[in-house]
Amino acid sequence: MSSNDGVNAGRRRFLVAATSVVGAAGAVGAAVPFVGSWFPSAKAKAAGAPVKVNISKVEPGQQMIAEWRGQPVFIVRRTPEILANLSKIEGQLSDPESKSSVQPTYVDPKNRSIKPEVLLLIGICTHLGCSPTFRPEVAPADLGKDWVGGYFCPCHGSHYDLAGRVYKSQPAPLNLPVPPHSYESDTIIVVGVDKEKA
Ligand code: FES
Repeated sequence: MSSNDGVNAGRRRFLVAATSVVGAAGAVGAAVPFVGSWFPSAKAKAAGAPVKVNISKVEPGQQMIAEWRGQPVFIVRRTPEILANLSKIEGQLSDPESKSSVQPTYVDPKNRSIKPEVLLLIGICTHLGCSPTFRPEVAPADLGKDWVGGYFCPCHGSHYDLAGRVYKSQPAPLNLPVPPHSYESDTIIVVGVDKEKA
């Protein structure tokens, strides 16, 4: 074996070792982007977690807004008058029994709640995603004498009743969705947990 061979053999070993290091570094580099998707952050987990909401301060006829999964959740305490009006306007609604709309199976298909007096809705218009405005007053000047209270979407004017049901001939195609929810007590609602699984 010549001395040249020894040099070349040593150089080859070095090159092999160097290539292995680069290969290992490359493998680590390639693995890093996936780690985030394998292990969601605590913040991401919290964003999808159920949310407990205390409704004790919501007076009859009023609304509070909670947040679940980054979405507004409208919670309304409905009065007997509001509930009575729901059946009077059914003929004007596009999907009065929520056959095509999104809601848990355990809510009433017409008043769309577990307890008639407490309504929960995802506050995102089913047209293009604006947040509708709570308009509980009867016959306000801008909404007309037939208005019995509901939601008005400021973006393209969709009208919903106080069960989140959309009126006929509106830009919005469906009723506002009802989120999964259950009662921990009379005043604590858990949004994001189905009644059956609670
Ligand atoms: S987003 Fe509500 S009517 Fe268009």
